[in-house]
Amino acid sequence: MKYATIIATGSYLPDNILTNDDMTKLVETSDEWIESRTGIKQRRISTGENTSDLAFEAAKRALAKTKLNATDLDLIICATITPDFVMPSVACMVQDRLGASKAAAFDLSAACTGLVYAMGIATSFIESGMYTNILIIGAETLSKTLDWTDRSTCVLFGDGAGAVILSASEKKGILSVHLVSDGSKQDYLCLPAIPLSNPFVKSEGDNSHPTITMKGQEVFKFAVRSITDLIKTALKKADTTEEEIKYIVAHQANLRILEHAAKSSGISLDKFFVNLDKYGNTSAATIGIALDEMVQKDMLQAGDKIILVGFGGGMTSGAILVEWN
Ligand code: ACO
Repeated sequence: MKYATIIATGSYLPDNILTNDDMTKLVETSDEWIESRTGIKQRRISTGENTSDLAFEAAKRALAKTKLNATDLDLIICATITPDFVMPSVACMVQDRLGASKAAAFDLSAACTGLVYAMGIATSFIESGMYTNILIIGAETLSKTLDWTDRSTCVLFGDGAGAVILSASEKKGILSVHLVSDGSKQDYLCLPAIPLSNPFVKSEGDNSHPTITMKGQEVFKFAVRSITDLIKTALKKADTTEEEIKYIVAHQANLRILEHAAKSSGISLDKFFVNLDKYGNTSAATIGIALDEMVQKDMLQAGDKIILVGFGGGMTSGAILVEWN
């Protein structure tokens, strides 16, 4: 039997940095409010690059770290809620730009849990023997979906992309996968798409630019509970103890969420990787960007066990226990 293992990571962030002080020029807020409530100090905001541009750059960087050619890729999955187009997918656009002519390609919508969902799917494809090399990308330009007059949401998000390549291996790199959805909480985080409109429908809503809305406190409680439960489940499924885990790489939404999750799970906050201070919440991209930063900082050695844990709109959540190879 073949197993899935991570062979490379990549990331790409737009150059333009928007600090909390810069945000005060746009909405009535302060560096103190944003940092004390969220841990965010700055974020990257695109000045023209769309999601496929960020996705392509992250993918190119990941691929360059392998011995693979683009034509060795069997599948490309792009997790995103901010595609350039509804059709074609970002994954197809990246497939073309990379020259990955043999790869199937599709986008996946699971909001901030998207990369975790995509890794779960890729693991199944590899373990079934169907595919050997799968490129996964989490990429977002959330800046185009924000109400830049709403201080309760626009300060939280940023643009960016992270990529991971999973390949078939004799060594098991993905030790457990656990994916969860709870559609009863669908109103916690919303981003409307094209409204239903045809000659048989009386149009109700307006067609103005759709933006993200959020029930912040409900999301907060959901996130803390999810991280705590998912870590437990990921450990149990992989027959692993918390002491064996070197790092928790959780979705980077908010430092206070991570602090509360660390406390309620009884795991030291030191084990939680944090870079949301630099990039804000980049939704499906955060975990890929975090992993790539950890690789660049040489924080991961062969045999290290880490847990990737995501939560997001839907509501969706999920965890993957990884052994680094
Ligand atoms: N600057 C200054 N004041 C602000 C800002 C801001 N940027 N945003 C809100 N406020 C004000 C509000 O207007 C309100 O003022 P009022 O009391 O005069 O009405 C006050 O601050 C408190 O507002 P709340 O919304 O109650 O603030 P809360 O303490 O809940 O903090 C926050 C908001 C940080 C969003 C919190 O709810 C939270 O951390 N939620 C988690 C959600 C999250 O992180 N989402 C990220 C995306 S979701 C995801 O990735 C899955």
